[in-house]
Amino acid sequence: MTRIAIAYHSGYGHTEVLAQSVAQGVRDAGVEAVLLKIDNATQDFDPLLDEITASDGAIFGAPTYMGDVSGVFKVFADASSKAFFTGAWRDKLAAGFTVSHSFSGDKLHALSSLSILAAQHGMNWINLGIPAPNIPAAERGPDTVNRVGSFIGLAAQADNAAADVSPPFGEHETARLLGLRVGKAALRWARGAEAELKQAA
Ligand SMILES: Cc1cc2nc3c(=O)[nH]c(=O)nc-3n(C[C@H](O)[C@H](O)[C@H](O)COP(=O)(O)O)c2cc1C
Repeated sequence: MTRIAIAYHSGYGHTEVLAQSVAQGVRDAGVEAVLLKIDNATQDFDPLLDEITASDGAIFGAPTYMGDVSGVFKVFADASSKAFFTGAWRDKLAAGFTVSHSFSGDKLHALSSLSILAAQHGMNWINLGIPAPNIPAAERGPDTVNRVGSFIGLAAQADNAAADVSPPFGEHETARLLGLRVGKAALRWARGAEAELKQAA
């Protein structure tokens, strides 16, 4: 079965609840979703790296801390150099999501880091694919999809509230739509790979 891994770190739960919505979107596409939680900087990352190697793609998620991915996610990214050296993730699909307190919060930088990680592995980056909301800013609210108007990936905003309260519905729906987009792309990608094999036979 086509399979997408969602590898994320979350210090306070906001990235984690979004990861669950991303997984829901992947499943809505009829694709298996594997949630891989990056717990801490000293854990053994090999099982997570192997899960990604066994998947058709990975969606990376990290909170924005000090204008970039969290330090724990960065340690995981460095550990993924093991897969870099063998080319284990080459040609897989990739996408990314982040969440920060501010509407900007410099989270574009975090998404850029995630896309560069994917590029270093030779993965194919899938952007968010949702137009920025074409309504007056004053009408954008917690239910608005892609309310900050991001293109490279999901840039969610969460208040300093419990993760079951914030991020709000619109951010969860955006996360689900990102998962759906990657899941559908993975199905197309797998069909293309099958056709390539048939042609070569
Ligand atoms: C160490 C640290 C640094 C942070 N830096 C930023 C930042 O640069 N920009 C911002 O808007 N929010 C920043 N925040 C707020 C977090 O991005 C926000 O609380 C996010 O929802 C946390 O996600 P998490 O619950 O998955 O850890 C920071 C929080 C922490 C703990």
